[in-house]
Amino acid sequence: MQKIIVTGGTGYIGSHVVVDLITKGYQPIIIDNLSNSERSVLEGIKKITDKDVEFADIDLCDREATLSFFEQHRDSIGVIHFAALKSVGESVEKPLKYYRNNLDSLINILQGMESYNIPNLIFSSSCTVYGEPDALPVTELSAIKPATSPYGHTKQMGEEIIMNFLKSNSNVKAISLRYFNPIGAHDSAYIGELPTGVPSNLMPYITQTAIGKRECLSVFGDDYKTHDGTALRDYIHVCDLADAHTMALEKIIGDSNSKNYDTYNLGVGTGYSVLDVIKSFERSTDQKLNYKIAPRRAGDVSAIYADNTKATKEL
Ligand code: NAD
Ligand code: UFG
Repeated sequence: MQKIIVTGGTGYIGSHVVVDLITKGYQPIIIDNLSNSERSVLEGIKKITDKDVEFADIDLCDREATLSFFEQHRDSIGVIHFAALKSVGESVEKPLKYYRNNLDSLINILQGMESYNIPNLIFSSSCTVYGEPDALPVTELSAIKPATSPYGHTKQMGEEIIMNFLKSNSNVKAISLRYFNPIGAHDSAYIGELPTGVPSNLMPYITQTAIGKRECLSVFGDDYKTHDGTALRDYIHVCDLADAHTMALEKIIGDSNSKNYDTYNLGVGTGYSVLDVIKSFERSTDQKLNYKIAPRRAGDVSAIYADNTKATKEL
């Protein structure tokens, strides 16, 4: 069975990809420091797949521990790198925390791949690399505009670091997947979006407000130039996103003609506003949500959605 190192594999997207990999016959090995996830996610994965997944509680910023983990798993065919801090607003307040965590970890992983000849990398990038786009939808060829947050900047820098790394490591291939806004959960509900602390993403804030865990949802800004004034995003189901990871992995492993580096947008291609999402949630659950309009959140773009033609054709 082919071994794949999955960093951040107990996190929201990582756990769904781990399930997808197991279902398709791979052996994922998780490395995560549980800074934004819980060990109990492993039980959820086991309930769905009937498999125990190997797990290492390691901070990827710890160079020695990370390299020793890579040495131990040098027979892996690839790495899917999810581990990162991801809160746009927090990154504006604590930029160094984001640069340190997201870049140190990436550099240590690339070092591990170089030292132990691990040949394939899938990187969790983001549509935030496009900054505030000039035209919608964005394609992979849209301009990389200045990042609107330090978080977004770590993703732009991450992609550049990988491209430069590949220039001196011609045996390695990489794909950056630029996610739009993943939402939802595995059908079983044994895994889902379970951030530790107060959620920064819209969907878990909505669901936690609905069950009474949070008092009131703040809608950040109603003065954007959109149909109802609230910001537009492209919401993609997390299981579709997970599926795309396995397809991307198979493309670089299985297709000897594939490029050594490529990027793909992963979104559905439609923009929905924050109020659209709230109303849709209310309709589907037949429950009123307590929300109020609040000021814009620092670092947010007004509107972004994907042109997903490339992923649809090639993956
Ligand atoms: P998540 O917070 O649920 O998962 C990330 C995991 O990485 C967590 O389990 C956390 O404990 C772990 N982690 C963070 N820093 C670490 C470190 N130094 N060492 C070891 N483990 C560490 O986030 P997610 O939503 O699953 O996002 C996964 C990836 O996708 C991230 O790189 C994120 O930036 C990217 N992304 C997410 C979204 C989104 O809306 N969720 C959109 C675009 C891109
Ligand atoms: N929002 C609210 N209230 C909240 C939370 C969010 O109004 O309590 C709004 C935001 O202002 C934004 C939209 O809902 O307009 C979506 O916000 P999220 O925080 O869920 O998602 P972002 O689009 O800000 O960022 C997410 C991930 C990033 C990723 C990005 C790609 O957190 O990692 O999607 O667009 F890079």
